[in-house]
Amino acid sequence: MQLRTLIPDDRIQARIKELGQEIARDYPDGTLYLICILKGATIFLADLARAIPRDAFIDFMGIASYGRGKTSSGEVKVTKDLDISLEGAHVLIVEDIVDSGITLNYLTHVLRQRRPLSLEICALLDKPERRQRPVNVKYVGFRIPDEFVVGYGLDYGEKYRNLPEVCILEGE
Ligand code: PRP
Repeated sequence: MQLRTLIPDDRIQARIKELGQEIARDYPDGTLYLICILKGATIFLADLARAIPRDAFIDFMGIASYGRGKTSSGEVKVTKDLDISLEGAHVLIVEDIVDSGITLNYLTHVLRQRRPLSLEICALLDKPERRQRPVNVKYVGFRIPDEFVVGYGLDYGEKYRNLPEVCILEGE
């Protein structure tokens, strides 16, 4: 297997700076809650949160999805819930990648029931070609082709998450 850089470190950081400014402009008042979906989004969350020049709360949620790939049943389960209530808050879900859309389609339904004032999604990567369920992603870092990517939080068998760039894993 071989790694080929798709998005270098400096381009990721520059785009995150832009996203941070855009988010700060869009949320002038009220508490902003950043909800990081474990584990892939942790690296992105760490950089994005520091690029948003306003107060923000941070919490984490664990999600497991089953039957992806060959048998896409679309079954999703919450494995770690939030510690905080979202009622009346501006909520921004922070994800590393939107692929089939199954995870975020499910998650937005779950979180909407908790009566946030607003609920939006910020994803570093979007693979629109792969979509099976509709998802409205307000903030997208990069739209990418249908390639298997690792790095900057994304893994292959838990490996490569700590790469500073997004790479295509070739020759699987
Ligand atoms: C990845 C990613 C999203 C989901 C997107 O998580 O972080 O949560 O898949 O895919 P979908 O749009 O097809 O639902 P993964 O299950 O690989 O867990 P991880 O973040 O812990 O690696």
